[in-house]
Amino acid sequence: MKNILVTGANRGLGFELLKVYIQSGYTVYPLVRSRESAELLSQQFSDHCIPIVTDLTTDDSIKDIEHTLSRHTTSLDIIINNAGISGRGSLIEDVDTEEINRLFNVHCLGPIRSIKGSINFLRKSDSPKIINISSRLGSLSRMASGEFNGMGFSYSYRMAKAAQNMLTICLSQELKDEKILVCAIHPGKLTTRGGSPDADTHPSVAAHNIYKWINEMDIHSSGKYVEPGVMEIAW
Ligand SMILES: NC(=O)c1ccc[n+]([C@@H]2O[C@H](COP(=O)([O-])OP(=O)(O)OC[C@H]3O[C@@H](n4cnc5c(N)ncnc54)[C@H](OP(=O)(O)O)[C@@H]3O)[C@@H](O)[C@H]2O)c1
Repeated sequence: MKNILVTGANRGLGFELLKVYIQSGYTVYPLVRSRESAELLSQQFSDHCIPIVTDLTTDDSIKDIEHTLSRHTTSLDIIINNAGISGRGSLIEDVDTEEINRLFNVHCLGPIRSIKGSINFLRKSDSPKIINISSRLGSLSRMASGEFNGMGFSYSYRMAKAAQNMLTICLSQELKDEKILVCAIHPGKLTTRGGSPDADTHPSVAAHNIYKWINEMDIHSSGKYVEPGVMEIAW
């Protein structure tokens, strides 16, 4: 039986990923913030769904993850760092430094915490993978080309996803010798609560594309930044 941890799995893309992996026979550890969300998921998916209730913006989440995993398993095959929040200020006058702190905390420190809480379980898998759900907006190359110029995207989100991308590169290089594969994924422009005005893709479609990409991942795809089924993205 394979095991996967998905953060932010009570709605949006995370919920669709949870469904795809349960349908494929995995035991899923959905990380959610509230007991209410955990109970709803447990009722809906029973045995193959073991929620971890914690908030990734605090270091307590590291122990919460370790604690739940250690009660149910010795190994974890995949972690998908999906939890995210959006930002607002898109002009320098409107940039709120507290908002930037909040987004860095969720998008960059959140994956660090979830990986610290699960790395020893990943090390016990024969095919361990870390997937960071990034965004096209984290690409320095695409941003520098002017592709998104004037489209009203927030400083905080673009900066936090770019920092998360650097984390992905650092991890992929550090963990290569241990054969832990690491990549960043832009899931598409999703019709979710956190989606942009030009959203055009249902999150269930993105979840299937991501599932297929992860299945096909090998050592050569580690360290890559991709939109599954569409293209590789320049960092
Ligand atoms: N939507 C898009 O078009 C798009 C495009 C590119 C990339 N992405 C990325 O894809 C991921 C999923 O996006 P989405 O549109 O599905 O988002 P969403 O519908 O807004 O869902 C976000 C999820 O993250 C959880 N979350 C937020 N802060 C958290 C925290 N501190 N600790 C634990 N969980 C937390 C939320 O939990 P609560 O329900 O408790 O708030 C929710 O489950 C995000 O990383 C996003 O940046 C999205």
